[in-house]
Amino acid sequence: EIKSLEEQFDAKIARDEKIEPKDWMPEKYRKTHIRQISQHAHSEIVGMLPEGNWITRAPSLRRKVALLAKVQDEAGHGLYLYSACETLGITREQMYEDLHSGKAKYSSIFNYPTVTWADMGAIGWLVDGAAIINQVPLCNTSFGPYARAMVRVCKEESFHQRQGYEIMLSLCNGSEEQKEMAQDALNRWWWPSLMMLGPTDAESTHTAQSMKWKLKRKTNDELRQQFIDQTVPQADILGLTIPDPDLKWNEETGHYDFGEIDWDEFWQVVKGHGPMNKSRLDARRNAWENGAWVREAATAYADKQREGKEE
Ligand code: ACO
Repeated sequence: EIKSLEEQFDAKIARDEKIEPKDWMPEKYRKTHIRQISQHAHSEIVGMLPEGNWITRAPSLRRKVALLAKVQDEAGHGLYLYSACETLGITREQMYEDLHSGKAKYSSIFNYPTVTWADMGAIGWLVDGAAIINQVPLCNTSFGPYARAMVRVCKEESFHQRQGYEIMLSLCNGSEEQKEMAQDALNRWWWPSLMMLGPTDAESTHTAQSMKWKLKRKTNDELRQQFIDQTVPQADILGLTIPDPDLKWNEETGHYDFGEIDWDEFWQVVKGHGPMNKSRLDARRNAWENGAWVREAATAYADKQREGKEE
């Protein structure tokens, strides 16, 4: 019996075998991977900005070293992900153009401002915490280059989460003002961190198909619940209050119940109307334009090297 390419592909997915760049794949599988991986790459690159904002103002040399390392890791994650995405037949130039023109999406979470040092703690603890929960299942995603990139990314994310939580711990063990600063950061970052994991399953356009392809291994709502269940006890250790009056342990389900998420706010931010959307895109466009001379010089140098070899 001769199987069609599509049947062979489905059988591979069913056997949990990786799909590699040169393997046959349905056009929709390719497209949806380009969409998700490029959005993910853009998120890493734009995600450097809110924290980059605090590098010069870190309160000690040790904090500065850790923050610098973390922001550099994010650049690395972006570059792996752009490379993984290129294997699907899109150029890096095209991806950059889509980001700079505002066509491409990147994570909503990076469109909020970082106003105090405690935000570095809250981002590491909550945003990287949510990122790990989202990305650990992706280590097992069906597309080989994406899955392999995620292994290293997740290791680095767990260092990021710890450095953030440790900042929160120090602030919470510090003065009254420091503890208030930590609580204020939690108040501002809690809800956006829940939104970051994506719309509810009922509203999620891609989840059903992505679960079938094993691109996604868990749904947005499952990941959100896991994040809440993991994070509430961590807030208790800090002695901070999660800003949700409806948050309550549910004996029957074995999970925390939580309040209504403001999905209008989420979609406003996704559509470009969050507090920092304009500033983030301006920063990326300026970096691209101001870096033109570096690209030109590197290309000219590469051309010269090539000419030298031909002679
Ligand atoms: N911010 C911006 N857009 C979002 C977000 C978000 N937090 N969540 C969902 N969306 C968009 C989706 O991109 C999709 O839009 P599109 O059709 O134009 O692409 C739409 O909302 C509907 O959402 P879903 O159908 O749920 O989309 P999807 O199946 O892709 O799930 C998710 C969204 C969970 C973010 C998934 O893409 C994913 O796991 N991505 C990889 C991880 C990632 O990108 N993390 C970024 C932050 S982590 C970090 O950088 C530190």
